[in-house]
Amino acid sequence: MITGLEKNKNNLLRAAVLGDPVAQSLSPKLHGFWLKHYQIHGEYTAIHTPPASLRDTLFRLRDAGFRGCNITVPHKEQALTWMDAVDASAARIGAVNTVRFVDGRMLGSNSDAPGFIANLTAATGDVTPFLHHAVVIGAGGAARAVVDGLVEAGAERITLINRTLTKAETIAAHYAPCGAVALEDDTEIRKALASAGLLVNTTTLGMQGIEPLALPLEYLPMHALVTDIVYKPLITPLLQQAAARGLRTVDGLGMLIHQAVPGFAAWFGVTPVPDEALRAWLLT
Ligand code: ATR
Repeated sequence: MITGLEKNKNNLLRAAVLGDPVAQSLSPKLHGFWLKHYQIHGEYTAIHTPPASLRDTLFRLRDAGFRGCNITVPHKEQALTWMDAVDASAARIGAVNTVRFVDGRMLGSNSDAPGFIANLTAATGDVTPFLHHAVVIGAGGAARAVVDGLVEAGAERITLINRTLTKAETIAAHYAPCGAVALEDDTEIRKALASAGLLVNTTTLGMQGIEPLALPLEYLPMHALVTDIVYKPLITPLLQQAAARGLRTVDGLGMLIHQAVPGFAAWFGVTPVPDEALRAWLLT
């Protein structure tokens, strides 16, 4: 039995995040901060949603008058199949992370790709100088969103490095500037790093309790930017290693924050401005 899905009371604007597991999600804390900051009569909750109840939960939220929801692991691909319409980014990536309920319709979008780029832009002022060659580690759902964002932002060349080469090749086949390399291919990895302007980790390696990614960062040029979408820990071993070499780094917390902006704006009617106070709050 899912609680909290009764019909709307007191014109409270409601949104939620659906995932399995969902307790680890920082989204309620993030949206809760903005709701308070902008003094909005709204609520954002986490709803634990096993795969078998995803469809039912989406329809119940819609019928209960929710403004919309976020979709997190492992449902982003499955949720797309129940949308009445999706935006171009969600269609290309094949995954939805933001849903709006409008006039009984479910509208899906994907803010991971623009959120990834917005974070880099906020950190550097202009990400373009780093996009002549982006090296992306991983070939899962997160990598697909990152590659989509990079291509939309004008990346001239992308090298996808993954343990399972066929998965990198599948993504590369959809994006013209993209090539694939196996994680065990030291020679090709060194070559790719030597001409990279941007290095991105999209794998879980380096996350708390998981072994770090071992890459020969000494091959990266000194102007290269290194970023990780892992944000627990905030400074991953990869970012530590890059900073120790004197390279510029961007942590992954900003991507989480920036991907949340379009959803908040659509559900609650105010476009929130990410700031240091929010980052500090999320790190408590
Ligand atoms: P997400 O949707 O978050 O991207 P995912 O689809 O499970 O998650 O993808 C996880 C990524 O981390 C994959 O690229 C995976 O490599 P494989 O495609 O070979 O599975 C990578 N990954 C996870 N554990 C890894 C490990 N121990 N060594 C190397 N790569 C790993």
